[in-house]
Amino acid sequence: MSYQNLKVQEAADLLKGRFADRSNKADILRAVELKALYAEIPQLPAEQRGPFGKELNALRAELQQLVDDATEQAEALPPIDVTAPYDINGQRPVLLPSITGSKHPLMTELELVLDIFYRMGFNAVESREIDDDYHMFGALNFPEGHPARDDYDTFMTTQTDSNDKPLIAPAHTSTMQNRVLRKYASNLEKGEPIACLIPGRVFRNEDLDARHEHTFYQLEGVYVGKGVHAGMLIATLKTFLQEYYGKELEVKTQPFYFPFTEPSFEFALSCPFCDKKGCSVCSQSGWIELLGCGMIHPNVLREAGINPEEYTGFAWGCGLDRLVIMKHNIEDIRHFESGKLDFLRQFA
Ligand code: DAH
Repeated sequence: MSYQNLKVQEAADLLKGRFADRSNKADILRAVELKALYAEIPQLPAEQRGPFGKELNALRAELQQLVDDATEQAEALPPIDVTAPYDINGQRPVLLPSITGSKHPLMTELELVLDIFYRMGFNAVESREIDDDYHMFGALNFPEGHPARDDYDTFMTTQTDSNDKPLIAPAHTSTMQNRVLRKYASNLEKGEPIACLIPGRVFRNEDLDARHEHTFYQLEGVYVGKGVHAGMLIATLKTFLQEYYGKELEVKTQPFYFPFTEPSFEFALSCPFCDKKGCSVCSQSGWIELLGCGMIHPNVLREAGINPEEYTGFAWGCGLDRLVIMKHNIEDIRHFESGKLDFLRQFA
């Protein structure tokens, strides 16, 4: 843009020349040269004031446009490639400090559970969130096509394992039994038991309601040694539950069926809320059916290379979410996976 008035043109050349080197571009609008020209207006003969003022305003507008363009450019960041490792974008993500978060109630309770089992001489191994057909069924004495497989309807991937079977989001932590039996079999030769707790996340194709969730946590227990019997199973679970709920409880078992235990039991405890008087937690029955358990089937021990003539063992699978729901009287299991802050903050 060019200006008729020589002084305005000179100021335009000077200020635009200076503009490029300025780090604070908006400073140019406050330049003394510009102010001086405005200050001249009242001194001019009346007929020159209008045209001079107009040109000066035009110069000011031109400078303002330069400032605006420069600001816009500085603010427009290059597009971020969300798939790239973060420093490729030249910017580190802002990590929230851990003080703004809190531990999930299931993890808080899991630590309490682990502490009880550690004190009882168990170690712990975490289960997997993707597993194969062999560990889900084959190693647990579910033959191919066995109807009991239908009780464990879960999610599968399109990816397959080396036997051309789809990989599975495991429906129970029993998938780990074969692995821990093999891993700790050398304990038995040393005259020590295998005593392992296996916490893990499991998945089921469920119709969801206040008591059923597609994703939840289980606590698997495996104990093998010489002369291990069902009385030890019941005593172990009773001791754990009394410690966890901090009170004396009654327990009872009734026969059940699992392919991987013989005999198999459903295990119930007296309601820790009402002490068998009947309340909403126990549906007025005074008892809570809590978990499945039994004596490990000889075929499961054999499959893991352990001689069932020499060693026996027990195992159980218990829902962690159910234990916690009863402890805190939580009305809906779906709160755990909901990410609702007003639920989570009650446990912070
Ligand atoms: N895996 C069973 C389930 O999720 C629970 C279970 C029953 C686990 C008996 C065991 C067991 O280890 O011995 O339904």
